[in-house]
Amino acid sequence: MSEKAKLIFDGKEHLFDVVKGSESEKALDVSSLRSDLDLITIDPGFKNTGSCKSAITFLDGEKGILRYRGYSIEDLAKNADFLQVAFLLIYGELPTNEEYVKFLNDINENAIVDEDLRKILENFPKSAHPMGILSSLTSALIAFNPEKKMSLKNIEDDREYMYNSIVKLLAKIPILVAWVHRRRKGLPLNYGDYTAGYVENITKMMFQVPNQDYIENKTVINAMNKLLILHADHEQNCSTSTVRIVGSSEASLFASVSAGISALWGRLHGGANQAVLEMLEAIKNDGGDTKKYMSKAKDKSDPFRLMGFGHRVYKNFDPRAKIIKVAAHEVLKDLGIDDPILDIAKSLEQEALNDPYFTQRKLYPNVDFYSGIIYKALKIPKEMFTVMFALGRVPGWIAHWREMRMNNDPIGRPRQVYVGSTHRTFKT
Ligand code: SDX
Repeated sequence: MSEKAKLIFDGKEHLFDVVKGSESEKALDVSSLRSDLDLITIDPGFKNTGSCKSAITFLDGEKGILRYRGYSIEDLAKNADFLQVAFLLIYGELPTNEEYVKFLNDINENAIVDEDLRKILENFPKSAHPMGILSSLTSALIAFNPEKKMSLKNIEDDREYMYNSIVKLLAKIPILVAWVHRRRKGLPLNYGDYTAGYVENITKMMFQVPNQDYIENKTVINAMNKLLILHADHEQNCSTSTVRIVGSSEASLFASVSAGISALWGRLHGGANQAVLEMLEAIKNDGGDTKKYMSKAKDKSDPFRLMGFGHRVYKNFDPRAKIIKVAAHEVLKDLGIDDPILDIAKSLEQEALNDPYFTQRKLYPNVDFYSGIIYKALKIPKEMFTVMFALGRVPGWIAHWREMRMNNDPIGRPRQVYVGSTHRTFKT
């Protein structure tokens, strides 16, 4: 028997079912609220509103817990490879060796994009932001990979068709990412061979230079693998919720992911990693005066925010930030880089962790605070940082799109409270 909650309004009583999750999270099921009490809820930014039931990722913001399909992020970042994690997020279990090999080979069979996409890419101004290009090219993939309409009724019959769309996207997005990166550097656009390893190929496609032997750097591969895993999913964040709501109209996987890329671009979301590095560089160029920037962050009349700090869910350390902070130190040491930006980041963090403005608001470093330091060490330009976030998040977006379709979730269509003009007559 589920727990109930009682609402008394306007002389009427209503009992609501309380939904309980597998981690004992509780939610009030308000689906009958309007029909029974002619009331809706309102919650700008959905800070206290659940949009769905999901079995993919669990977060505990108070305890700083993050698990993909029950596996802790610490465990996966240390022991898994990104393609294993992608399979886990999408299909719910880690792949067997046979499943992994088939997955990688099927991805490799799709490891080209139509040559006309190259022409689309080459017509973007060089100044165009890589996230805008990636979102456009992802949407353009539909034109070259027309997707038949998957009926919601017999989704089982479409299982094979859905699988093919998934491996196509996992194959083609890294090529688009590599091409966007290479075009900015004036390098020829290339293809790669995924059978050499999914992350190994992504790294090679991005960094290989013509007329030079490409020497694989294990430090770079391991750092890339860890960063991609740490960014792979994060339950109902802004961009994933975008993918789910776009997909709920039966828009295709490619169209839904293209929308997710655009949502991630914002500097309050995935765009924060680029903004963090710009902030740290500004502080460095300003003589490293971290106290000045801490005061600006606390000054309500100043639009400046301490980028990479704060989180809608985590009211404790973002577990990913802890892992990335250690990785940043290791990567810089392994690559023999002494970057003063890392020291500035650490002193900012220390000051914030001892400042009541931040501690009272439970503002801690999030995933974006240290990631840019590693991307910079890997010689990835800051304009590409959010593209790297998107590359990591693709399996999460796919997993949520697939879950939403398999669960036959209804089209997303929130209500509103109208506060505009009441009826008035048009007068000539
Ligand atoms: C990601 O949702 C996800 O899971 C996202 C993500 C993922 O993996 O998908 O984790 C990735 O997007 C991480 C967040 C990256 N964004 C940033 O680093 C940008 C800086 N941070 C913020 O703008 C902010 O903290 C948010 C957007 C992350 C969260 O905003 P909320 O939950 O809406 O909180 P809020 O803006 O209402 O802030 C609450 C208070 C306010 O002060 P008061 O009105 O109470 O006085 O905290 C203050 C804010 O002014 N505050 C900050 C701050 N973040 C919040 N003050 C200074 N610097 C900051 N960074």
